[in-house]
Amino acid sequence: MPTLTKGLAVFAFLAIPLCLIIALSEADRRTTLSLEAAERTSFRLAMRSHVIDLDEILTAMAKGDYDTAATIASDRMDSAGQRAHHLSDIILPGPDTPAFRETERALHNAADRFGEAARASPGSPEMRARYQELVAVCQGCHTSFRIDPGF
Ligand code: HEC
Repeated sequence: MPTLTKGLAVFAFLAIPLCLIIALSEADRRTTLSLEAAERTSFRLAMRSHVIDLDEILTAMAKGDYDTAATIASDRMDSAGQRAHHLSDIILPGPDTPAFRETERALHNAADRFGEAARASPGSPEMRARYQELVAVCQGCHTSFRIDPGF
């Protein structure tokens, strides 16, 4: 076998499994949740409004207005918040619905804890830690779940 061909064969022998390993490790392992088409839009809208909530909380904290920061968390994000329905109610029932529901509850609880800390010890390291925990719940859910894009 000519040296060049041999070299190519060795390259293919090593490169193909390597590409496969990379492709598999990059695979999307999140649980896919199903939604009706109309609900998909309101789900995404609710999610985007969470970014606004976090932004407004940060803006309030930057101004030293911890009471407003706490109120945003309580009124919009906590368990007794004013959202018309829980997101998990619009996810079609499936084996993973309880896990989603639990993560959603964790978000509300984290918002509760942030609100309490912002009122009890405004501006404290503890309050900042509660904010970080709140954001970590967003991140945790996004790492675990995706919605069926419907196409
Ligand atoms: C209980 C689970 C859960 C929690 C908690 C959660 N999300 Fe999401 N979010 C999702 C899922 C599922 C998607 C869809 C992701 C996909 O299909 O790729 C999503 C999508 C989004 C999107 C994209 C919306 C769009 O228009 O496509 C944004 C922005 C977002 N989330 C922000 C947040 C923020 C900010 C928080 C925390 C305050 C948060 N989410 C908490 C589950 C969650």
